Amino acid sequence: MGLKEQGMNEFALLDEKEGIPLFYPYIAPETKDELLETINSRWIGQGPKVDKFEQKFKEKLSSPNKFIATGSGTDSLHLAYILAGIKSGDEVITPVFTCTATNLPLLYEGAIPVFADIDAATMNIDCNDIEKRITSRTKAVVAVDYGGLSANYQKLTEITKKYNLTLISDSAQSIGSKFNNLNSCDYADFTAYSFQAIKTITTADGGMLSIKDHTLYEKAKRLRWFGIDRSLKQLGTWENDIYELGYKYQMNDISASLGLASLNHLEEIIEYRKNLMKIYLENINHPKIQLIGKEDFQGNNCPWLCTILVKENRFNLVKKLRQNGIESAQVHYRNDRYTIFGERRKDLPNMDLLEDQYLVLPLHHKVKQDDCKRICEVINEGW
Ligand SMILES: Cc1ncc(COP(=O)(O)O)c(C=O)c1O
Repeated sequence: MGLKEQGMNEFALLDEKEGIPLFYPYIAPETKDELLETINSRWIGQGPKVDKFEQKFKEKLSSPNKFIATGSGTDSLHLAYILAGIKSGDEVITPVFTCTATNLPLLYEGAIPVFADIDAATMNIDCNDIEKRITSRTKAVVAVDYGGLSANYQKLTEITKKYNLTLISDSAQSIGSKFNNLNSCDYADFTAYSFQAIKTITTADGGMLSIKDHTLYEKAKRLRWFGIDRSLKQLGTWENDIYELGYKYQMNDISASLGLASLNHLEEIIEYRKNLMKIYLENINHPKIQLIGKEDFQGNNCPWLCTILVKENRFNLVKKLRQNGIESAQVHYRNDRYTIFGERRKDLPNMDLLEDQYLVLPLHHKVKQDDCKRICEVINEGW
């Protein structure tokens, strides 16, 4: 059940002056200079800053893959699904618990999302629930790094290799996270990132797609721009025929300016977030609370969300936090609750178990360490 069904929608939004909001966009100090340079130049659409942002992002990840910047994480996911050759009637195994943006673009292609259960300790896809859902129509497996916590890419690679499936990572929430010291894009055939307003790095809206197979790079760029080869178009030739369905999924130079400024601070942003998570991990000690990813967040993951399981009266805790000026929310809902995905599934026991328990707490650069300690105290007092 959601907040509204409980008659609690008045708790959903909090003005920052009232207390600690759940999210807050990170804007780097040099953003204004970067933006000024862009708006004083010839290019504000997709131009040199987008190229520079792609290059800098690739360097930050030390990746040999190809990278294309897009208008959003959703655009990146849609392009990944097309490039993976996912077609109408194909089945794709994907987590039931995620932002709807993971799964909606599968419907754009007429594919069938086959929802896998979540792991009860991490809320990521349960790797033990994948194999039994594979059929002759299965084309790909999608993993989401929920809250910044890396999915188990070692197991996912084993399964997808064994059945010759494409592995797609939705890393919208996990820039800066690693699994066994490798980035998700080192494992996945396609990796989608999001720079939407409240993500670890933001470009207001924007995304990135990492592509392992270099032969798909030119096609990816064409699909991002109506199906046209922009480099040929700029030569003024008529070799730029459209022979495949393309989209308008590019990033623009204004967004790239925000991204370039923020990337300068990626390491410190990650460090700050890790330190807040450490405070939550060390200080929340109420017997009715369990932290999602308790083990894994002590390692190489950059937290985007701090998610707790509230074993009793979740909405009483929401109310108490709100009375103390602290915003909290569920953020995502199991995707089979949405009519567009068909009937609610009956074979997802971990999702059923956690559905009425999880709650997300503030974790971002505006949350001070003392705020974080106070949030822990409010929780530990009970509700
Ligand atoms: C897991 C996940 N996937 C995809 C997206 C979509 O990204 P965007 O909003 O940039 O389209 C988001 C966030 O919005 C997300 O959290």
